[in-house]
Amino acid sequence: MIILPPEKVTSLHRDVAKHLGSELAKVERKQFPDGEHYLRIHNDLKEQQVLVIHNIRVERDLLDLLFLLDAARAMEPSSITLLVPYFGYARQHMRYNIGEPVSSKVIVDCISPYVDSILAVDLHNDETLEYSSKPFKNIKIIDSIAKHFKDKKITYVISPDDGGFERAQKIASAMGLKAIHLDKKRESGSVVHITMNDIIDIYGKNVLLTDDIISTGGTILKAIDLLKRRKVDKVYVSAVHGVFCKGSEETIGFSANGLCVTNSLETEHSTIDISKELANAVRSVIS
Ligand code: R5P
Repeated sequence: MIILPPEKVTSLHRDVAKHLGSELAKVERKQFPDGEHYLRIHNDLKEQQVLVIHNIRVERDLLDLLFLLDAARAMEPSSITLLVPYFGYARQHMRYNIGEPVSSKVIVDCISPYVDSILAVDLHNDETLEYSSKPFKNIKIIDSIAKHFKDKKITYVISPDDGGFERAQKIASAMGLKAIHLDKKRESGSVVHITMNDIIDIYGKNVLLTDDIISTGGTILKAIDLLKRRKVDKVYVSAVHGVFCKGSEETIGFSANGLCVTNSLETEHSTIDISKELANAVRSVIS
């Protein structure tokens, strides 16, 4: 198998390659004087199993990915598997209001004709899987998160909303603990209200607050605030994807007793390595 990496190669790409015993292909990229993007694959992909590892975080990522897939397909590989550690736009998996696009479907429609299968990591909602005409699997990161916090004397695993409760329950179960969820009402992209309806005594306890994505940090900060008012002892925060826009990692870092996310996106808090889980998931799809 040969791996086609994105523009910015991180330790995640190198470690997935190491676990799979594969090499990273050489991809040349440059910009034309007018700003248009160019790339060229310098390995022979004919009859090879190809793994493309590529995040879709910003618009440029999607263009680079589509160029890479088109170039790879033309080189007649035996298969193309696409691994997307961070699949952006998955929060718009439905038309919430008339006049809006189903953004995640638009993206799936663009990429699926080029690939034989797709793997994504903790997609915000499984509905996106149904938009693909090709096999599409959602890898859920549970054990690495549970393992990371096992020595922190945690009593409860807490989701900031009921949408994330299943994930919190799975992490809690892997730690032999109980999960609870808070209740969230979103007013806008950056304003949320969090309440706690569960009548549970968290006084003096250590808790793990866990979510799929931390973006503006609005959700997590409001949840930390509420838990502190309920006099928890320590609040540890984890998420699968640390998008951390508007410097939210700093604010959360000040308020929480610990902040750790996976290396699906590379940040200074990406201390939970998921390369082994991703390599195993790739193996299960390809064999
Ligand atoms: C939404 O339901 C997600 O699970 C996250 O809670 C949300 O995307 C976090 O965004 P922010 O950090 O901007 O509050």
